[in-house]
Amino acid sequence: MKKIIIAIDGPAGSGKSTTARLAAERLGYIYIDTGAMYRAVTLAWLRSKLEMSEDILCKLLLNLHIELKPSEQGQRTYLNGEDVSDEIRSIEVTKNVSPVSAVGCVREKLVDMQRELGKNGGVVMDGRDIGTVVLPNADLKIFLIASVDARAMRRTLELKDKGIIESVKEIKEQIITRDLFDSSRDISPLKKAGDAIEIDTSNLTIEEQTEKVVVLAKEIIQKV
Ligand code: DC
Repeated sequence: MKKIIIAIDGPAGSGKSTTARLAAERLGYIYIDTGAMYRAVTLAWLRSKLEMSEDILCKLLLNLHIELKPSEQGQRTYLNGEDVSDEIRSIEVTKNVSPVSAVGCVREKLVDMQRELGKNGGVVMDGRDIGTVVLPNADLKIFLIASVDARAMRRTLELKDKGIIESVKEIKEQIITRDLFDSSRDISPLKKAGDAIEIDTSNLTIEEQTEKVVVLAKEIIQKV
C-alpha cells in the first residue's frame, strides 16, 4: 500500500503536534515536528549570547547539526548530538522563535532538511508552511484552527504539566504576538494552502481531531 504524505499546518496551540503525532502512530507513519527544528536554532542562538541579526544567525547555522529521532516518548530533537527536546520548549525559546524562523537562511536550511525527511512518504509533518512551501505535493493537507482562548488554555495546561506556571492571560498575549509575526513575515508565512482541509478544533477532543485526520488519510490511501 502506498505511503502518503500528510501536511498539518496551523497557528500556535491549534493542536497540530498532538494530532500529527497520534495520527502518525495510528497509521504507522513517521511524525515530523518542524517547529522543533526552528526551536533548536533559537536555543543555539540564545546560548551564543550574540545579538539577533540575519548575519549572525546565518553564521551560527553553519556549525549547527540538527537531528530528529523517533523514541518511545515521541520525536526527540538533537542539537549537535545533545538531546534538547525539553529545553526547546522553554518560555525563553518560545518568545524568540518567531523572529529566528523569519530569517531566510534559517528557513532555507530547515526546509531542505524537511523535504528530504518527507520525500519518501509515510510521514505526518506539522508546521506553518508544510502544505504551501515544504511539501506542496502532499497527498493530504490539513489546516487546524481554534479560538485564541481555547489555544491559550491548552498551552497553559501543557506547560503546567511540565511544572511551568504561567497565567492564561500571559500565554494568550504570547500566542497573539507569535501568530501575528508568523502570518505576516515575508518568507513562507503561516497560510492555509488552497487545497487544505480546515478543521476547527476549538470544541474537539484530541481523539476527535485525530480521528478526523485518520479517516481522511485512509480515504486517500485506499484510492492511491
Ligand atoms: O509549532 P511550534 O510552536 O513549535 O513552532 C515554533 C515556531 O517555529 C513558530 O512560532 C513558527 C516557526 N515555524 C515556522 O516558521 N515554520 C514551521 N514549519 C514550523 C514552525
